[in-house]
Amino acid sequence: MTLRHRPWEEAADFQIGLKPIAPGDWLEGGEADPAARKDTLIAAYRGLVWAETEDSRPAQAEVWEMVEAALGPAPRPPDLPPLYAAARRVPDDLCLMEKRDGQWRLTALSLSAGSFFTAEQVIGRSLAELHGPVTGFAERFLARVQRIFEGLRPELVLERRNWTLLNSAALHTPTSGPIRSRIGEIDPAQAGDVLNLRVERQTLRRLPRTGGALFTIRVWLAPLDSLRDDPDRLAAFARAWGAATPELRAYKRFDLYDDLVEAFLRGSQSR
Ligand code: HEM
Repeated sequence: MTLRHRPWEEAADFQIGLKPIAPGDWLEGGEADPAARKDTLIAAYRGLVWAETEDSRPAQAEVWEMVEAALGPAPRPPDLPPLYAAARRVPDDLCLMEKRDGQWRLTALSLSAGSFFTAEQVIGRSLAELHGPVTGFAERFLARVQRIFEGLRPELVLERRNWTLLNSAALHTPTSGPIRSRIGEIDPAQAGDVLNLRVERQTLRRLPRTGGALFTIRVWLAPLDSLRDDPDRLAAFARAWGAATPELRAYKRFDLYDDLVEAFLRGSQSR
């Protein structure tokens, strides 16, 4: 398997990177039964994967309609919050942002593949608060991202991607601790199999009726070994690993994986 997106080939630093895409390309699909995966998670870990504020139901209902417009009509389970009902139809996680007290805030989210955060931690947070842990976000990006939220036209669909490397093949990764604690056990000869490239493909669009904004997050995973068959892709990854800025490396804790990546790259060259 090769990953559909290879954002490491495009930038060595944090970036906004939002680009318009055709509205027909909004949802990538590609998962047979997202509802089964998400229902299992919500039954076991509700607070980690689902949260809503009281006043978010009208915009949630608009998200349901937007998904219906994209995928075709379907009966909406009456006992489920509309955003969750919508999220069950798509592989993506759905994050509803609405303007509250002058700030864009997360008012509901269905989060089945959170990258080291949980629904209960982030519900209600503003764009600034959500990105508190991201080095330099407030100084470099916040004002621009707020402007993008303000100016989002209804017909526009924006897309961005990010990536990281993790010793986990799980989509649901609410916390880093259990994953990072296993790094020391990895046999360097197995690094290409154990380490996964983790790509988030995100989209943003306006909810025209309620004025909210819908942010989607789709996580794609593939082992590093998936690069081995293509020398150009492998070389591009090696370059990206070496070129990542100190800030990006520190945020993503690439230092924890340097030796393993080096072993993987050495092993790949000698094959
Ligand atoms: C659409 C405009 C947005 C931009 C340009 C943006 C940008 C970023 C960037 C640069 C990062 C660091 C990792 C990466 O490279 O992606 C990040 C992390 C993150 N973003 Fe965003 N973001 C946006 C919207 C949102 C929204 C709507 C949410 C609401 C769920 C969100 C939640 C987060 C979280 C939870 C993190 C991880 C923070 C942590 O490490 O704890 N972002 N974002």
